Amino acid sequence: MPKFSPTFRQLQVFNIVALERNFTKASEKLHLSQPAVSLQIKQLEQSAGLPLFDRLGNKISLTEAGEEVLKCSQIIAKVLGDTEESIEQLKGFNRGRLYLSVATTAAYFISRTLADFAAAYPEVAVSLDVTNRETLLEQLDDNIPDMVVMGEAPSNKDLNSLAFKENPLVIVAEGEHSLAKRQSIPIEELRQQSFVSREKGSGTRAAIERFLESQGLHFNFIMEMTSNEAIKQSVIAGLGLGIVSAQSVELEVEMGRLVILDIVGFPILRHWYIVSRMGKKLSPVAKLFEQFLLEQHKITID
Ligand code: PGA
Repeated sequence: MPKFSPTFRQLQVFNIVALERNFTKASEKLHLSQPAVSLQIKQLEQSAGLPLFDRLGNKISLTEAGEEVLKCSQIIAKVLGDTEESIEQLKGFNRGRLYLSVATTAAYFISRTLADFAAAYPEVAVSLDVTNRETLLEQLDDNIPDMVVMGEAPSNKDLNSLAFKENPLVIVAEGEHSLAKRQSIPIEELRQQSFVSREKGSGTRAAIERFLESQGLHFNFIMEMTSNEAIKQSVIAGLGLGIVSAQSVELEVEMGRLVILDIVGFPILRHWYIVSRMGKKLSPVAKLFEQFLLEQHKITID
């Protein structure tokens, strides 16, 4: 038995701290307390017999020994991942777990896809994470999900992205709003209106900002919120106008509680993309889901 015999958990924790270069961020990511993270690192350093991090105030960096342990932990993570994949292959295509992360707004249609998928493949377990675009990009970077569904293709060349569904952005008002019945409203008129918007880091917000910049326009954003549901309720309550994916307001529009305004230049046309890391060997279950999603939306891949 070698003297350096870390536990797998210690290496997992170390990996995240090494990637984040920050104990607070690492503990948030791991859902652990900061002392628990520090303890794991301390025990790992005791096992190595050398410090693995240089700590300068809030900033930490890897020591030479830390770099060696990082290489080791990455090799172990890869071997475990490959083994898991081989085991899944032995079990057959219809079993295993799908790790899917989707943009907050995609939750409005992905639930239907998942329900149909579960009916077709009842033995597949699914872990779904619903979060904003910025976090999805971080997750892809850290190789956490099998694949991601997001509102625009990332510019990163190490990712495969495929558009599979339209995702128009619309401006909504409460049902009785003074603009509700008007047609072809010039966008400049909206300068006098108040808006409720998604948070920075959301794909919807990024698309709105790009659009406004391209038009040389400024809207009066009075509040930002991390949830489409909160935006819808605020608009219904008369707080202002909202810019959201048309897919997120179908029910409220049908009930007459929200109205999609007829603005010149709208909707902003966008697409949903399925994104995975280039070169990542997808598990059989992940491939199955990708094909299912694309078929459901009438796109087929080889
Ligand atoms: P969001 O992403 O939910 O983070 O806004 C969806 C999108 O890009 O449309």
